[in-house]
Amino acid sequence: MAKKIAIIGGGNLGTAIAEGLLKSKFSKPSDIIITKRNTATLKTFKEKGVEVTDDNAVAVKKSEVIILAVKPFQVGEVLGGISKELTKDKILISVVTGVLINEMETIVKKNISYFRAMPNTAIAIQESMTCICSKDADAATNKYVNDLFSTVGKVVSIDEKLMEAATILAACGTAYAMRYIRANIQGGIEIGFDAATASLIAAQTVKGAAELLLQKGTHPEQEIDKVTTPKGCTIAGLNEMEHRGFSSSLIRGVVASYKKIAKD
Ligand SMILES: NC(=O)c1ccc[n+]([C@@H]2O[C@H](COP(=O)([O-])OP(=O)(O)OC[C@H]3O[C@@H](n4cnc5c(N)ncnc54)[C@H](OP(=O)(O)O)[C@@H]3O)[C@@H](O)[C@H]2O)c1
Repeated sequence: MAKKIAIIGGGNLGTAIAEGLLKSKFSKPSDIIITKRNTATLKTFKEKGVEVTDDNAVAVKKSEVIILAVKPFQVGEVLGGISKELTKDKILISVVTGVLINEMETIVKKNISYFRAMPNTAIAIQESMTCICSKDADAATNKYVNDLFSTVGKVVSIDEKLMEAATILAACGTAYAMRYIRANIQGGIEIGFDAATASLIAAQTVKGAAELLLQKGTHPEQEIDKVTTPKGCTIAGLNEMEHRGFSSSLIRGVVASYKKIAKD
C-alpha cells in the first residue's frame, strides 16, 4: 500500500514535489497532505483531493513519510513543533539547503530514518537532478526514497559531506547552464536570428546535447569529435573559446561558488 506523505511547507519546492508525485501516479491525491500557514495558495491541490492544512503536527501524525520543505531559518521551529509526532516508524526527508542530519537529530532527538535531498528547479517539470544522503535507513527505505524522487527526475545517492558540492553542481548548475544558453542567444542574434528563434535553437540544442550524453553514456569529447571537421568552423570556434578561457572560467566559477557555500 502507498505510504501517506506529509509535505511540510507547500511553497515552490514542496508543491513541485507534490505535482510530480501526482503526475507520475506515485501517490494518489488522498495519500498526500500539504501544510503551510496560508493555505489559500494550495486551492488547486485541495480541489484535486489533496488534504491541505496549517497544522503540521496533525499532518505528521497521519503520515508515514514527512518531507520538510520550509526555509532553512524555519527548520528549528517547525521540526521542534512536530518532534513529538515523529515516532520511530516515520521517514523524515529534508530538502532544506544547508541543514545537516546531525542538526535535525539534535532537534528531533529520535532514532528515525533521516534523509536529505537536494533537487533543482527543474523539479517543476519532473526533470530535477536530485542528490540524496541518509542516516539509519534500511535498504527498503532507501529504495522507497529513491523511487519517490525518481518521479521528479534523476536521483543519485551521495555522502552527506558532498551535499554542498551537490548544491553547486546541480542547483547552481541550472544558473550556469542558463548563462551558457543566453550567450548563445546573444551570438545567434548577432549572426542573423531574431531573439525568439535564437532562444528556441539555443535551448533545444543544449537539451539535445544533454540527452546525447544521458542516453548514450558517451563523454562530451566523443560527441564533440563527431561535429568537428578538420579545418572546419566548429573547431575554429571551440578553440577561440578555449583561448579566451571558456573551460577555465567555468571551472573557476564552480570552485568560487563552492568556496562561498563552504565559507557561509
Ligand atoms: N526551490 C528550489 O529549487 C530548491 C532547491 C533545493 C532546495 N531548496 C530548499 O527547499 C526549501 C524550500 O524552498 P522554496 O523555494 O520552496 O521556498 P518557499 O517557496 O518559500 O516555501 C517554503 C514554504 O514554507 C511554508 N512555511 C513557512 N513556515 C511554515 C510553518 N511554520 N509550517 C508550515 N509551512 C510553513 C511557507 O508558506 P506560509 O508562509 O504560507 O507558511 C512557504 O510556502 C528551502 O529550504 C530551500 O533551501 C529549494
